[in-house]
Amino acid sequence: MTQLPGAGHMLEMKGITKRFPGVIANENVHFDVVAGEIHTLLGENGAGKSTLMKILYGLYQPDEGEILLGGRPVNITSPANAIIHGIGMIHQHFMLVPTLTVAENVALGLKSTRGFLTDLKIVSKRIIELSETFGLQVNPFEYVWQLSVGERQRVEIIKALYRDASILVLDEPTAVLTPNEVDDVFVIFRKLANDGRGLIFISHKLQEVLDLSDRITVMRHGRVTGETTPAETSRNNLALMMVGREVKLAPDKQPVKTGRVMLKIEDLYIPGDRGRDAVQGINLEVRCGEVMGIAGISGNGQRELAEAIAGLRTPTSGKIIIDEQNTTGCRPGQVRKAGLSYVPEERMRDGAIGEFRIKENLILLNHNSRNFCHKGFLRFKQIQQHCEKLVKEYAVKTPDIETTTKSLSGGNIQKLILARELSSNPKVLVASQPTRGVDIGAAEYIHERISQQRQSGTASLVISEDLDEVMALSDRIAVMFDGKIMGIINRENATRESIGLMMTGEKQDSAA
Ligand SMILES: Nc1ncnc2c1ncn2[C@@H]1O[C@H](COP(=O)(O)OP(=O)(O)OP(=O)(O)O)[C@@H](O)[C@H]1O
Ligand SMILES: [Mg+2]
Repeated sequence: MTQLPGAGHMLEMKGITKRFPGVIANENVHFDVVAGEIHTLLGENGAGKSTLMKILYGLYQPDEGEILLGGRPVNITSPANAIIHGIGMIHQHFMLVPTLTVAENVALGLKSTRGFLTDLKIVSKRIIELSETFGLQVNPFEYVWQLSVGERQRVEIIKALYRDASILVLDEPTAVLTPNEVDDVFVIFRKLANDGRGLIFISHKLQEVLDLSDRITVMRHGRVTGETTPAETSRNNLALMMVGREVKLAPDKQPVKTGRVMLKIEDLYIPGDRGRDAVQGINLEVRCGEVMGIAGISGNGQRELAEAIAGLRTPTSGKIIIDEQNTTGCRPGQVRKAGLSYVPEERMRDGAIGEFRIKENLILLNHNSRNFCHKGFLRFKQIQQHCEKLVKEYAVKTPDIETTTKSLSGGNIQKLILARELSSNPKVLVASQPTRGVDIGAAEYIHERISQQRQSGTASLVISEDLDEVMALSDRIAVMFDGKIMGIINRENATRESIGLMMTGEKQDSAA
């Protein structure tokens, strides 16, 4: 990678302002990147981070301000144009085409820049090289729809690496990676920076930010509120800078007396998307007032398990019982009636309808409930009050509840779905990666809510790759590997190490 002689700033964004109806997403923002550095953008959900990066990537035009690349003002008109300027971006929400293969997806990104270079053999070969060089396991011939979230993220990273961008925007790239994968990818990021690239990193995980960054810029309500470096700051200090108050980093957990078995899973086998059973003979019991954590690296059957419980995937054999009612093979609506709330892993795809208003998504699945519908008439006032309360409690950042859902920031869409699912007081809660992508303030609140549900007798299954989260919330922890449960440990006896070993299939605990 060649550097401009005496290159200071690769990138300068000066006085950027961007308005949306009712919101100033960016207000007079200054942001710059020096070659060779990893510069983190930190801020609460809705602070304006993605907007700033979308402006850089040509997806939005700023209302005011200018962008300079290597000291020269540029007008970035589209993503294709951004790529020509050497800017690459890994989006917060996947931009891959599910019905195409990995290689086809990577080639797709290249078409606009290199014209005819669509020879899939060449692309596949290069993907394999890249995946070997950087330890990012990806099979170029698999279809994207067959991939787990973690794998899709790896494809996004490869796609960006493939283009050899000199400025790389990473919008929450680690949100979907396991701790080990994060370590690996950090080595890659550092290599890319040392090579003279400029990396812009967005993450809600403060420890990551401290580990990886050279510089940290903090945003709040669309404005830059400060700049610091890991050497000058701390987790608590960063939390304070972004939220404006102290944040508890783990919830208080009261002892709860557990009751009868609410969710029972018997010898369950569930088909996967790749022609073999993704879940192979699972047995689980979750009692009232109990949180069962499911730890494991994504792609080991957790998603299929959650989907089967929610009625979105029909098991090959075995039984799912909710409050003594056999719900195996039932439709999602019937399972909900039996008492299930479900927070899906891919909330953008499975949890909300982007075109709907916020309030419509908030009552999407319980609009028939008596609170909201009387003798066939919707009770608008009740709906309005309920939705306004949820938006306030969960601090969903929006001008009002009439706003279209897809215009919310990534984290705020997550909060919206959590608000809906946690507010219905379910018998059984299945939550996949409940705090992925939400800021620390919101994570704190969501953890509190899950703990409250536990207190009020809900049986919860919390599926998470985040070991800290599993340890903080669970009473017992089941570790999944390759479609099976490697062991179930009481929280008191669990250590990060013992769980970590089981996550990679190395140790089987029989104390289930
Ligand atoms: N296309 C849009 N139309 C209307 N409002 C938008 C649009 N895109 C973003 N916004 C609003 O702009 C604000 C900033 O959103 P942005 O996505 O930049 O936040 P963010 O810092 O990336 O948050 P998160 O951590 O949740 O991803 C939010 O209030 C959001 O609702
Ligand atoms: Mg964002």
